[in-house]
Amino acid sequence: MAILLKEEGLYDRCRIYATDINEEVLRKAKAAIYPMDCIPKYRDNYMKAGGKKDFASYYTSGYDHAILDSSLQANIVFSQHNLATDRCFNEFNVILCRNVVIYFNRALQDRVHRLLYESLATFGILGLGRSENLRFTPHEKEYESLDGGERLYRRTTQSSWSAPIQAIAGKSPPN
Ligand SMILES: C[S@@+](CC[C@H](N)C(=O)[O-])C[C@H]1O[C@@H](n2cnc3c(N)ncnc32)[C@H](O)[C@@H]1O
Repeated sequence: MAILLKEEGLYDRCRIYATDINEEVLRKAKAAIYPMDCIPKYRDNYMKAGGKKDFASYYTSGYDHAILDSSLQANIVFSQHNLATDRCFNEFNVILCRNVVIYFNRALQDRVHRLLYESLATFGILGLGRSENLRFTPHEKEYESLDGGERLYRRTTQSSWSAPIQAIAGKSPPN
């Protein structure tokens, strides 16, 4: 995400919240060290996603590991967040929540989908894992599918986060 936002000239205006329940996962993500064996796959994904530069310009290699450029982390906040118990803490334009909800039971899945919906801005984008979808989830009807294969959805309803701003501007939100 950081590379994508950088190449689109948006990184300086963005903040990425990287969250997980597990502190060790967060520590590893922050360290940004990856085995060199993984780099060809990451380079392929970068090219498929329309990467504009030489992927090697984003990391320094040493021994059999690559460490990502620290400038990529300038606007990333790593923080512990439990999808099962914690509340929505901000409004987001994009939420990627991949391959987590699939392991939860129905009630917990519903809770997480309510949380994701409440955390999305109007027209915000939600990305799920390849084996996940919004079918039979509480806000299914309040999204449109953008890319079925990649499980990308757009919230089509007004977010309650933006309601106070509209009220100040003297406009009423649509029903
Ligand atoms: C299968 S991994 C998926 C990681 C990554 N999203 C991906 O697609 O490669 C599931 C992740 O969900 C995290 N997780 C499990 N339960 C969670 C919870 N209740 N709240 C937040 N994260 C949780 C785990 O620690 C793990 O890092």
